[in-house]
Amino acid sequence: MSSTVSHHASEAVAVAAERRWAIIVVAIIGLLVLMMVITGLHWASMPPSRVETVDVKTVHIKGEFVESNLGTAMDADGKVTVRLVAQQYSFSPQCIVVPEGMPVTFRATATDAIHGFVVGRTNANTMLVPGFVSTFTTTFPKAGEQLMPCHEYCGTGHEAMWAHVQVLRRDEFLARASSAERMSCVPR
Ligand code: CUA
Repeated sequence: MSSTVSHHASEAVAVAAERRWAIIVVAIIGLLVLMMVITGLHWASMPPSRVETVDVKTVHIKGEFVESNLGTAMDADGKVTVRLVAQQYSFSPQCIVVPEGMPVTFRATATDAIHGFVVGRTNANTMLVPGFVSTFTTTFPKAGEQLMPCHEYCGTGHEAMWAHVQVLRRDEFLARASSAERMSCVPR
């Protein structure tokens, strides 16, 4: 008799423990889903390549991604735009200049495979998809040199695909911008 009672008691303990853990697991899943929804809405997360397309076959010979138009440009109204192209296994230009503390808009595409890049520890981070123009705007808070690796596996030379980013002091950048239409820090 007493063994039947203790059997029932231990079964009740087990059921209670299982219910407790089930509630905790459901709560964790709910929290993760909530985090995804909040970050998705708050940061407006979406793929960087949206609807702007470019013809891969002619990207090198006409339009905004011809070689002479690549690099950093500053408009008359002070807007800074960086245009670059990724191909196996390099970026053009290989060295990019940007100003410190000013919004910079990147416009970039790829010609052969899916590439991508991230700039040092900044939030400049995008995929580059052939046929699409990836755009984003960011600000580099601190002057200095940053590395910019390709972060999408794009073939056997992927790990050697790097560019450099020089974040210049604002006055230094403005001085260079006034003397050149397209800037880069590729050694000539
Ligand atoms: Cu380009 Cu990996």
